[in-house]
Amino acid sequence: MKNALLLGGTGFVGAHVCEKLVRAGWSVTVATRRAQNAREVQHLPSLTVLEVDVHDASALARAAAGHDAVVNLVAILHGSPAAFNRVHVELPQKIAAACASAGVTQLVHISALGANAQNPAALPSLYLRSKSQGEAVLLASCSQLALTILRPSVIFGAGDKFLNLFASLQKLFPFMPLAGADARFQPVWVEDVATAVVKSLERSAPGVQTLEACGPGVYTLKELVEISAKLAGVNRGRGRPVIGLPNWAGQLQARMMELKPGDPLMSRDNLASMQVPSVATPGMPGLEALGLQPAALEPVARDYLSQGSPWHDLLGVRLRSHFR
Ligand SMILES: NC(=O)c1ccc[n+]([C@@H]2O[C@H](COP(=O)([O-])OP(=O)(O)OC[C@H]3O[C@@H](n4cnc5c(N)ncnc54)[C@H](OP(=O)(O)O)[C@@H]3O)[C@@H](O)[C@H]2O)c1
Repeated sequence: MKNALLLGGTGFVGAHVCEKLVRAGWSVTVATRRAQNAREVQHLPSLTVLEVDVHDASALARAAAGHDAVVNLVAILHGSPAAFNRVHVELPQKIAAACASAGVTQLVHISALGANAQNPAALPSLYLRSKSQGEAVLLASCSQLALTILRPSVIFGAGDKFLNLFASLQKLFPFMPLAGADARFQPVWVEDVATAVVKSLERSAPGVQTLEACGPGVYTLKELVEISAKLAGVNRGRGRPVIGLPNWAGQLQARMMELKPGDPLMSRDNLASMQVPSVATPGMPGLEALGLQPAALEPVARDYLSQGSPWHDLLGVRLRSHFR
């Protein structure tokens, strides 16, 4: 049985990757900062939870020992330049070193659509620049590995913090002021991303593949907000009026959200990221290169958005306290 070490295996995408790897016959170790974060996946057979500080290079190398593969799903959406650098650039560097010292032969790294390892400085946000630098670090240091860099557009699926969030906001408020309304996305289903990770691990010869992970449809942010309301049955499926904000008002809204304690719903850096269309690049290989036909958004999202769940109630409580 082959062994994989997952970093970020407790998150939204990570939980799906854990399940698919276990089903495919892998033995999985989930490295997490806090064991209790792994409660959603700890019941899976052939899965072990390891509490470890992944930023400690020696602890990471010890964790990697005995594994054939490493999958890196760690990322942040908000933070200082130093925080982005630590998580998106220094951590991949430490992962590359840990793979080399532990004899790991396969690495799958989840980046983001819009990243550009050749020219990070040209990108408008800390998120995309640091993701690009992380890719560059791996490309420079992983020549002995079978390395896959996967760049997803926004990811949807049960438990996402994207369509669920838009639907919940429209349940709470009579209209939706929306920054970045014209930004374009090509959403991809979380199950397709998880399958892509497993399929990428079928490759074992040294070399790099960079793949974009996109679904079949391109939407503006405004269209996605409207679809989320329709599928969740908000206002009998009619949704709420969505009012696109001019750039100055979007910046002001994001600034005010950043002032609240905790992770903001939207930051100025998120807005900056949306200047780069999150859609497939002509000529770049996508999930089809792995033999996958990515699922369309609406049939899948209808399934989970139309069902009330304790998760929706919790999100509603959190949103109410956020706007109080
Ligand atoms: N979700 C999307 O729409 C989307 C779109 C494009 C790309 N991606 C990429 O896909 C990957 C997975 O995304 P996701 O949505 O599953 O993320 P997520 O739910 O936020 O999970 C990220 C994981 O990273 C770990 N983590 C967070 N902050 C950390 C820190 N400061 N130091 C160390 N570990 C930390 C956490 O693990 P522990 O708490 O257990 O340590 C967490 O489980 C990321 O690389 C993300 O950039 C996601």
